[in-house]
Amino acid sequence: MPRTPDDVVIGPLDLSARVDEALAVQAVAFGLGAEEIAVRRQIVLRHMTYPGARALGATTAAGRLAGFVYGMPNDRTHWWSTVVEPYLRAQGHADWLDDSFVITELHVHPHHQNRGIGRALITTITDGATQPRSILSAIDTDSPARGLYHSLGYVDLARQVIFPSAPKPYAVMGAPLPLRRR
Ligand SMILES: CC(C)(COP(=O)(O)OP(=O)(O)OC[C@H]1O[C@@H](n2cnc3c(N)ncnc32)[C@H](O)[C@@H]1OP(=O)(O)O)[C@@H](O)C(=O)NCCC(=O)NCCS
Repeated sequence: MPRTPDDVVIGPLDLSARVDEALAVQAVAFGLGAEEIAVRRQIVLRHMTYPGARALGATTAAGRLAGFVYGMPNDRTHWWSTVVEPYLRAQGHADWLDDSFVITELHVHPHHQNRGIGRALITTITDGATQPRSILSAIDTDSPARGLYHSLGYVDLARQVIFPSAPKPYAVMGAPLPLRRR
């Protein structure tokens, strides 16, 4: 299993069993309140029943979860895909919704950020995808997440995408697989 300089091991994660631990990481990394965590919990458990859904965790030597990623082959009937489809279609990029592996969540605990864990998680999970490309959405701002995605070869397919109930607009990004190495 790949190791990062932090001596954190990247490997398969039983996300349904460890959903509370994962959401605790997401809560501090991304900023989630108790109500949002309860909503996300149901969404994550449902996502893990979808065909091809996979999760990886970054685990410390003490067995704690430092970060996680999960995703699945895109399905145009899934909620996320139906929201982004008109925005992609308007840019002539709707074909990205076929034969794509979607990164649904990627979060690294702030104590462990900037040491290559996020990069290792997303490259390892996409290396295991059979699809030729990957798509995701990220808050449409110059964030570390957007910097990481750009450096991996993701480009903007649509911007200012509004998800119902999300306070900020998102960018939808896509990259060919395998992701670019440095
Ligand atoms: C995005 C996130 C997962 C990255 O994890 P990480 O382990 O810190 O990332 P890595 O150390 O592997 O990679 C860091 C890369 O991010 C980018 N990055 C980091 N800080 C940055 C900053 N301030 N500005 C721009 N890019 C930055 C760089 O591309 C950097 O690559 P480098 O190796 O060339 O320095 C982590 O910052 C995080 O959990 N953020 C909060 C939650 C979140 O936004 N998740 C994504 C939702 S779409």
